[in-house]
Amino acid sequence: MKRITTIEEYHTEYAKSVKNPEAFWAEQAADFTWRKPWKEVLEWNFEKAETKWFVGGKLNITENCLDRHLANRGNQTAILWEPNSPLEEARKISYSELHTMVCRMTNVLAQNNIKKGDRVCIYMPMVPELAVTVLACARIGAIHSVVFAGFSAKSLSDRINDSECKMLITADGGFRGNKTTPLKDIADEALLSTPSIETVLVHKRTEQNINWTEGRDKWLHSELAKVDANSVATEMDAEDPLFILYTSGSTGKPKGVVHSTAGYMVYADYTFRNVFQYKEGETFFCTADVGWITGHSYIVYGPLLAGATSLMFEGIPTYPDAGRFWEIIDKHQVNIFYTAPTAIRSLEAAGLDFVKPYKLDSLRVLGSVGEPINEEAWEWYNHNIGKGRCPIVDTWWQTETGGILISPLAGITKTKPSFATLPLPGVQPILVDSDGKEIVGNGVEGNLCIKYPWPSIIRTTYGDHERCFTNYFATYKGLYFTGDGCKRDEDGYYRITGRVDDVLNVSGHRLGTAEIENAIDEHPLVIETAVVGYPHDIKGQGVYAYIICSGEIADEDKLKKEINETVTKIIGPIAKPDKIQLVKGLPKTRSGKIMRRILRKIAENDMANLGDTSTLLDPDVVADIVKGRV
Ligand code: PRX
Repeated sequence: MKRITTIEEYHTEYAKSVKNPEAFWAEQAADFTWRKPWKEVLEWNFEKAETKWFVGGKLNITENCLDRHLANRGNQTAILWEPNSPLEEARKISYSELHTMVCRMTNVLAQNNIKKGDRVCIYMPMVPELAVTVLACARIGAIHSVVFAGFSAKSLSDRINDSECKMLITADGGFRGNKTTPLKDIADEALLSTPSIETVLVHKRTEQNINWTEGRDKWLHSELAKVDANSVATEMDAEDPLFILYTSGSTGKPKGVVHSTAGYMVYADYTFRNVFQYKEGETFFCTADVGWITGHSYIVYGPLLAGATSLMFEGIPTYPDAGRFWEIIDKHQVNIFYTAPTAIRSLEAAGLDFVKPYKLDSLRVLGSVGEPINEEAWEWYNHNIGKGRCPIVDTWWQTETGGILISPLAGITKTKPSFATLPLPGVQPILVDSDGKEIVGNGVEGNLCIKYPWPSIIRTTYGDHERCFTNYFATYKGLYFTGDGCKRDEDGYYRITGRVDDVLNVSGHRLGTAEIENAIDEHPLVIETAVVGYPHDIKGQGVYAYIICSGEIADEDKLKKEINETVTKIIGPIAKPDKIQLVKGLPKTRSGKIMRRILRKIAENDMANLGDTSTLLDPDVVADIVKGRV
């Protein structure tokens, strides 16, 4: 398959993709295995939030991830798995072994009454079986909904219920650093309120004691022993949903972002090969969890579509020490390394002694994803990990975009620290002001929108298409609105400045302020809460909660601990507030709206820019809050 190799070629391809997007994407899609060719490349109408790519085409994505590679690279490692403990042996799973594992797993799904279109929830640690179950769903045509294994029972049951999953696939537990997560116990609690679940398949990982519900729970290894390895992939329509992935928005509960089959496949493969400039035989290490979109697109689908070796790591960057990533890179001779700024910052803080023992000379390309990367972290990464010779690709994208939209092409696009640089071919970004008027020219700043569909654009929000329209296509007529603010500099380079809505990005995890507020409000003593983000050295953004409680609080520390426990129970530990301030009142307008802008400024300790507070219902509350800032 063709890959862009020079900046001139990038410009030519980009121009082609804008002039005739259909011809451009038809060319990219041609090399895949199709059961039936498409009739129309694209049908779209942003005013109805509708996009269809490769209309009428029939295929199965796993034939493209697996079967297609068997003849040429059956013996090549597809998944290289590094366990949590460096003392446990790594696993190398070849394309042909992975094919067999996926086929068997597909048969297990079939035997347990899973059919095309059924929803299957996956709540697993980062073990190869997680990738196998994802692919088996795709092979049978079931829609997978992976829930990050750090989420709570409540988050899990909400997600299962929203899409009425018929099956849950989980594990007894998961290893992360020196902790074990009791995944089956958490799942059992979730399953108390999930009427749609018929079967629970349990992968054995930690061998801890678990409870068992006869008739519902089945060991995965016992089920696998009952089936053979012959499985014919189900024929899917190009637009059949491939997966649901829940993500936070500015309002209400997380929404189920739906991606469909063919467009997602073409785009995941195209971006993987071009952004990272993947070369045959290289090992690619993406440190994300498969529970997030980055893991879907760049641990599972993108690398496997391209026939790469994808390194999957079970553990955390600081176990047994802060040199673990670098040790893994040397041990497995990783060529392309893709991580998040928050990880870079925390490893920078740990000090260079953890980097020095390692050569890191196999590295060719470095990547960053998930949040803006500050210049200092960029320079540290460039200098100490890339040794100044590895291009850094700062890749901007979202759960909803399915794949990378704005990014340098490694070694081809001239980089600038903390700039995502230029749009990929097929991506047409525009900046608009708050009225939706296009901001033209360079050296400007505005809200980032995309004006033309790319193949892996969100298709709908599960069960509620109106919500998809309202969230992404209603703010600015005829445009996809990203929720991000963005600068375009004199060179036409894009720099993402962060969310302009009430979404926080904490350690690269996306959280809605409303979601955290609702969780805190569950504490019996809490009357009202307002949550904002503030700059945090390691996490990028921290969570700052202003809380009004009933009555006098005798023990503030105890209350704060309980609030953290409440949030952990309802969402998960990633959403715990970093700072909690008890307040008597919140700054509200006369119509009762909380002035978050003021709360943000106080959390940022930017008192000089509090702005006009005279229109508040009770201007005195501001002075009180400033005085009590934590
Ligand atoms: O604000 C942007 C930020 O992460 C948001 C998307 O989060 P999520 O859907 O969880 O997907 C993360 C992984 C793709 C975006 O709206 N973001 C992501 N990448 C970058 C970024 N901000 C700045 N620079 C990036 N490279």
